[in-house]
Amino acid sequence: MADHRLVTARLVLRQPGEEDLAAYNTVIAEDSDEREHRDALAHWRAHGFGPWVVEEAGQPVGILEIHYAGPGVTGIEPHEVEIGWTIAEARRGNGLAVEAARAALEDAFERAGPNRHGWIVAYIRPENLISQRVANCIGMRHEADGLTRSGHPMEIWRVRLPG
Ligand SMILES: CC(C)(COP(=O)(O)OP(=O)(O)OC[C@H]1O[C@@H](n2cnc3c(N)ncnc32)[C@H](O)[C@@H]1OP(=O)(O)O)[C@@H](O)C(=O)NCCC(=O)NCCS
Repeated sequence: MADHRLVTARLVLRQPGEEDLAAYNTVIAEDSDEREHRDALAHWRAHGFGPWVVEEAGQPVGILEIHYAGPGVTGIEPHEVEIGWTIAEARRGNGLAVEAARAALEDAFERAGPNRHGWIVAYIRPENLISQRVANCIGMRHEADGLTRSGHPMEIWRVRLPG
């Protein structure tokens, strides 16, 4: 499989491989990391795009999710493309989430094909103001409230693909 990558001023976003469970452990450090790693590999295999491992100076510092939303979130169609971000705790507050998200979004814009509806979507907890700042910085807008995922209220943010 091709090794896709995106390069920004400080970061490399690269397609994850089998060996990247350690990167997921480092960045996410939650029970979900193994599942997220497996899902990311499967998504790349099935669709030719998917979540990125974010590296700074050769070290994993983030996971930049971009994938079909799938079922389970009210207000979002399963075939919409969803974006999300996690930066390792030690490297937060340095603009890395915005830098990585911008690169992933531009790449999605260029390849626009995956999203038949012309939108990229994010869902964010109302109390997660930092994540809302990231969304706002990359041009997303808050569209709806009061939606739920696994019983938690979520805000839906979207940005329209150009053209
Ligand atoms: C959300 C998250 C990815 C942000 O990563 P980050 O690299 O620290 O974000 P950035 O440095 O790019 O900052 C993004 C914005 O938030 C602001 N910000 C960052 N840390 C902040 C803090 N501790 N307090 C207040 N504002 C903060 C920045 O100033 C910036 O806004 P601005 O450009 O308008 O000034 C990171 O906090 C994280 O991984 N959180 C846990 C996982 C999570 O919540 N993911 C999102 C799920 S929807």
